[in-house]
Amino acid sequence: MGNRTFTMIKPDAVANGHIGAILNKISEAGFRIVAMKMTRLSGQKAGEFYAVHKERPFYGELVEFMSSGHIVAAILEKDNAVEDFRKLIGATNPANAEEGTIRKMYAESIGRNAIHGSDSDENAQIEGDFFFSGLEKF
Ligand code: CMP
Repeated sequence: MGNRTFTMIKPDAVANGHIGAILNKISEAGFRIVAMKMTRLSGQKAGEFYAVHKERPFYGELVEFMSSGHIVAAILEKDNAVEDFRKLIGATNPANAEEGTIRKMYAESIGRNAIHGSDSDENAQIEGDFFFSGLEKF
């Protein structure tokens, strides 16, 4: 068993019809999908999820966007999951993302950037627990 990361396919990528293509890239890159659900965040839930960014100028915009449509949340497993997944998705701003990365291919802007990936093992655990119960995470 490898270690785990957490991802969300964001409302822009869901609305633009990219769920299938993104899940394909994730599987081809060697990640096992441990748990997955399509859901929609309320403004309150999106605010809780991104509470670490509360003082940032883009917080309001971020919460509004993340609650604007459906998302796909998933827990992924692979050796070196957090770091390898962040390489696969590319830089936060798609303008700086490398060719072939998910954000380069599917993101619209720094805010509407198609996909989230946890930035540490600790946050992967916290974020996965936000969406999935113990019974859902085998
Ligand atoms: P994510 O990695 O999911 O977590 C924080 C998010 O804040 C990040 O993706 C971006 O989509 C968003 N973000 C970061 N910087 C900006 C910005 N300058 N303007 C709007 N959104 C931003």
